[in-house]
Formats: sequence, structure tokens, C-alpha cells
Amino acid sequence: MVFKERTSRSKGVIENGRLMELHLYPGNQCNRECDFCTVFGAPKGWYTEYTAEHLDATLRTVMLHEQGAIKFYGGEPTLNHENVMWAIAYIREQGFQGAIVIYSNGIQAERLLAILASDPLGKTTASLNYSIATGDGAPQMPLSSLRKLEDHERANPGAIAIGHADIVDSGRGVDPFTGEVTRPKDAHRCPHCYPVLKTDGTFHACPFAVENDAPHFQLGRLDDPPAAITQNFERFLHWLDTVHEPYATQHDLPACTVCWKHLHELPTPASK
Ligand SMILES: C[S@@+](CC[C@H](N)C(=O)[O-])C[C@H]1O[C@@H](n2cnc3c(N)ncnc32)[C@H](O)[C@@H]1O
Ligand code: SF4
Ligand code: SF4
Repeated sequence: MVFKERTSRSKGVIENGRLMELHLYPGNQCNRECDFCTVFGAPKGWYTEYTAEHLDATLRTVMLHEQGAIKFYGGEPTLNHENVMWAIAYIREQGFQGAIVIYSNGIQAERLLAILASDPLGKTTASLNYSIATGDGAPQMPLSSLRKLEDHERANPGAIAIGHADIVDSGRGVDPFTGEVTRPKDAHRCPHCYPVLKTDGTFHACPFAVENDAPHFQLGRLDDPPAAITQNFERFLHWLDTVHEPYATQHDLPACTVCWKHLHELPTPASK
């Protein structure tokens, strides 16, 4: 395998009221329909483009220096690559110095490489869908695309990583998953991901559960003060440790199954 997994960075880091990482989500429109997809990605999915308003809210919420990271996902970012390249240019013009990551299935390899090349700081990298890169659990991407991406990674080591093999029970979840049975699926502990700004104007606490509208995940709107968003996220992390994980352990349930099927039994973070 040419592509390497990235080691994940520290979770829950907030500095001067700013998050170390933020995900950006423009909807679940996709050129695939994976049977395990957390966000119900599909060609008929929704898509709303990034605007200056969304990106200004992003720049108020995330660390702007080199430790900060902004992660574009979806759906499939290469379907609307011009809007993604515009967004990258905008956040660089406004002074964002950190890392940018594009989560992609890599099928539109040339568009993905164009997105990486568009960053004036050369600090935009990609993370590929494990199943679509390897063919384990989903039809593999066309080999012509795979070769282009492998060649790029060989010439620019670290530019294109591969995502984790783990499958979590969120969205379409684990039941329809047809890949290797040994792939990990059932930890009681939430991975404590960084939150998401959706192009519908809302901040959501979890990138895996982003299509789940339960009140537990709602952190606020893009015109709310950034301090309110980070404070709500801290409350959410505390709720994960004090309410969610004890429930998952007591009922012997995978962490994401609790979010997907049992939240009505749990108080919201705000009510704690
Ligand atoms: C929702 S996709 C969106 C970006 C792009 N379409 C892709 O597939 O990489 C983002 C990441 O979520 C991962 N993912 C999707 N469903 C998952 C699941 N049930 N458990 C764990 N990861 C999942 C994908 O493999 C991918 O790495
Ligand atoms: S995992 Fe990615 S490629 Fe697969 S349906 Fe979901 S968004 Fe699309
Ligand atoms: S346990 Fe819940 S909050 Fe954590 S990753 Fe899974 S769905 Fe998201």
C-alpha cells in the first residue's frame, strides 16, 4: 500500500476559545452510495455551497496558526471542486495558516489533485476512503484514478493518506457492511471527534452523526458568538464522558449505536 494512515492528533483541544480542528460539511451528495456510509451519501443527496459567511464563521472558531486544521468532507468534495478551491483561496487570503484536509473517495482523481495544487501554502492534503481505495467493503475506485493518486503520493510523500478501516454504527451503519469481518466496529468509547460547520448554517457536534438532528448534537448557529459554540462543545465532551460512555458500557453497546438508536433515553448536554 502506497498510502499511509495518519496518526490522529489530540482531541478536544481548545485555545483562547478556538478549536484546534473543525470539519466543513456541504451535504451528502456523492458519486457513490456506500452501504456503510455514516452520512447517507448518494447522488440524490443534498448540497449547499460554501459562502463567505460560512467561512468567516469558520475563521472565528478555529485556531488560525499552524496548529489549526480545517477538514472538508461530505458527500464527495470533488463533485463541487471549484467551490472547494474557492473556499481554500478565501481562508488563505483571510490568514489561515494551518493544515487543510480533503476527505475524498478519489474517483475524480484529477479534480482531487487540482484541489491539493490550488493551496498557495501547499498545506492541503487528502485522506482517502479505505474501502474505495482497497476494494474491501465497496467497489474499488477505477485503477486509472488509483494510479494517478499513487504516483502523486510517491512524488509527494504524505500528500495523500488513507482513512481508518474501522466501521462505526452511524447512518447506514454496520449491518449492511460487506467488508472484512475483522475490521473493528464496536468500541464503547466515542472517538471524541472535532465538530462540524454545515452549510445549512448550524454547528453539529459529530462528523459521523452529522445527518442526525437530535438536540444532543446542536452546538449553535454560524452567527452565534464563537465562545458559545466552543462552550457547548466542551459541554458535549463532558456529556460523552459522564452520560454517554457509562450508558454504552452498562448496556454493552458500541458508542455510535448509543447515538444512533438510544439518545431519546439520555438527557441532552445542555440539560446537565
Ligand atoms: C463520509 S465520507 C465523505 C468523504 C468521501 N466521500 C469519502 O468517502 O472519503 C468520510 C469518511 O467517513 C468514512 N466512513 C463512512 N462511513 C463510515 C462508517 N460507517 N464508519 C467509519 N467510517 C466511515 C469514509 O470511509 C471516509 O473516510
Ligand atoms: S462513504 Fe464517502 S464515498 Fe461512500 S457514500 Fe459516503 S460520502 Fe460517498
Ligand atoms: S459515539 Fe456518537 S458522538 Fe461519538 S463518534 Fe459515534 S456518533 Fe459521533
